Amino acid sequence: MIGTATLTQFNIHQQRNYSVKRGELTLLLDDVARACKSISHAVNQGSLTGTLGAAETDNVQGEVQKQLDVICDEIFTDALIWTGHLAAMASEEVEEVIEIPSRFPKGKYLICFDPLDGSSNIDVNLSVGTIFSILRCPEGIETPQTKDFLQPGTQQVCAGFCIYGPSTILVLTSGNGVNGFTLDHDVGEFILTHPDIKIPKDTAEFAINVSNQRYWEAPVQRYVDECLKGIEGVREKNFNMRWIASMVAEIYRILTRGGIFMYPLDNKIPKMKGRLRLLYEANPMSFIIEQAGGMSSTGRQRIMEIQPDSIHQRVPVIMGSYNEVERVVSYHM
Ligand code: F6P
Repeated sequence: MIGTATLTQFNIHQQRNYSVKRGELTLLLDDVARACKSISHAVNQGSLTGTLGAAETDNVQGEVQKQLDVICDEIFTDALIWTGHLAAMASEEVEEVIEIPSRFPKGKYLICFDPLDGSSNIDVNLSVGTIFSILRCPEGIETPQTKDFLQPGTQQVCAGFCIYGPSTILVLTSGNGVNGFTLDHDVGEFILTHPDIKIPKDTAEFAINVSNQRYWEAPVQRYVDECLKGIEGVREKNFNMRWIASMVAEIYRILTRGGIFMYPLDNKIPKMKGRLRLLYEANPMSFIIEQAGGMSSTGRQRIMEIQPDSIHQRVPVIMGSYNEVERVVSYHM
């Protein structure tokens, strides 16, 4: 490929190399990239536009929405709803499936997205991001309903996230490895800067919200306890810990230097089977992590093999460096 590839050039190259008919996917990814550029700008404006702080609404999960959650949801929806590449959309912020109005053409893909993940970090100026997962619309379906989105993660055509940090980086997989593109604000293009990302198999860094420790199950208690014992314990090495409370930032760190991220099953709110959403967070991140050579599980099951039962379903998440995740899974067996 040519020296410095933009996202579009890279996708066209993939399209040729893997000889699949995916021109429509390339165009859809251009739409997604455009939405992410606008969100990056909105997030970056911060207090200048008076959009920090809480909105006057709760989202479908009953969580307090930030003003930017609402704004970014609109930006993403408006950028994609009319372009003709989607049959329907599902947003973490919206209860029902978002239909494509009849005045617009429809395409063959479905998209699930979390427009602004980790939004509790906005007011404190830490990294947040957009996560998305692209599925095929089932054959013969004109107006997709909720059931058409309930596909296991193994069916994803493409998944990605955009992190709005010191730089804006779009990370993508469509099943042929993972690549990262940095936004060049001057040119307005995402440029391939992190080709073929691979996660080290071993790590000495874990990420978990330790304030929930008393609610965890025994296997996670055991794993974290062994890490904390460091060189004097059974692991015979010291571990470092990080918790940013922004999944995109944790996963980006893991893609860069390895690590394990856990939001495991706990009994804090017994009816809640995990904290993170399967369709908007766990599945797309699992696709990326697996494609980068890592592993992703609930502790008991590969996340991408879960048959979803609702679009806002939550699941336990343990993902990252292969050997560490495998160890936590073995403690569950
Ligand atoms: O699902 C949203 C999210 O903000 C994730 O990005 C993050 O990993 C997690 O929730 C943080 O949870 P907590 O507030 O319990 O630290």
